Amino acid sequence: MLMYVVTGGGTGLGRAIALELDRNKERVLITGRREAPLAAVARETDGRIGYLAGDNAEPAVARELAAAVTEPVQGLIHCAGGNPAIGRDDPDGLDEVAALLDETVAGNLRSAALTVTTLDEHLAADASVVLFGSIAAERGVGFYGPAKAAVASYAVGLAGQLGARGIRVNCVSPGYIAETEFFGGGLSAEREETLREQTALGRVGVPADAVGLVMFLLSPAARHVTAQTLHLNGGAHPTR
Ligand SMILES: NC(=O)c1ccc[n+]([C@@H]2O[C@H](COP(=O)([O-])OP(=O)(O)OC[C@H]3O[C@@H](n4cnc5c(N)ncnc54)[C@H](OP(=O)(O)O)[C@@H]3O)[C@@H](O)[C@H]2O)c1
Repeated sequence: MLMYVVTGGGTGLGRAIALELDRNKERVLITGRREAPLAAVARETDGRIGYLAGDNAEPAVARELAAAVTEPVQGLIHCAGGNPAIGRDDPDGLDEVAALLDETVAGNLRSAALTVTTLDEHLAADASVVLFGSIAAERGVGFYGPAKAAVASYAVGLAGQLGARGIRVNCVSPGYIAETEFFGGGLSAEREETLREQTALGRVGVPADAVGLVMFLLSPAARHVTAQTLHLNGGAHPTR
């Protein structure tokens, strides 16, 4: 039996991905800092989805995660992350700037690095690792955009390291996705309309849009896809 680890699996994109894996009869372990959303997903799946509460940017939690893994990990989907500046006043003075920068890098890049490192020896021979970047990396949003750009770069180096073992590593970079907790209390209708207008498709993303792309990256159909950033934004950020 193989298993899948979905960090940030209690809400938003991670929750949708974990539930889809469960529907596919896969064994799934989810993480997050708050226990309540994780326990809700466990209940929703009659206890089939297991969970570990803790901050994935902390080495002690990373060690606990490795200890909780009981089977070779076929897929590691690192959704944990976010922009701690949302809903807060701008940092006032150098100490607050430094603290916000450290928190943003820890939540996004350090959490990815510790999660991958701790699970390295548990990854199956043909495992797929999916990290989450953001359109903010292209736009430059405070410290969050740079932190997500670093995650995408980290995925490239990791793909080079793990490729010899047949393990693929990619970065999914979403634009605005509604129905998540990313923006805390949500966006104003006006701001959401602006983001919708930026897409070519004239619609904002929903978690199910990420599920399809991630399932592809986890599947043998993506066997030659590695070291890539895959953009998921309805055309809001075109690439050539
Ligand atoms: N929604 C968007 O528009 C959007 C756009 C671009 C990129 N993204 C990225 O997509 C990923 C998924 O976000 P989402 O949209 O699904 O938002 P979300 O609903 O806020 O999901 C993020 C999840 O990660 C968990 N988390 C955050 N920091 C963590 C940490 N240090 N350790 C463990 N768990 C942590 C959160 O739970 P706890 O708070 O309980 O820890 C939450 O369940 C994130 O990396 C986000 O940056 C989202």
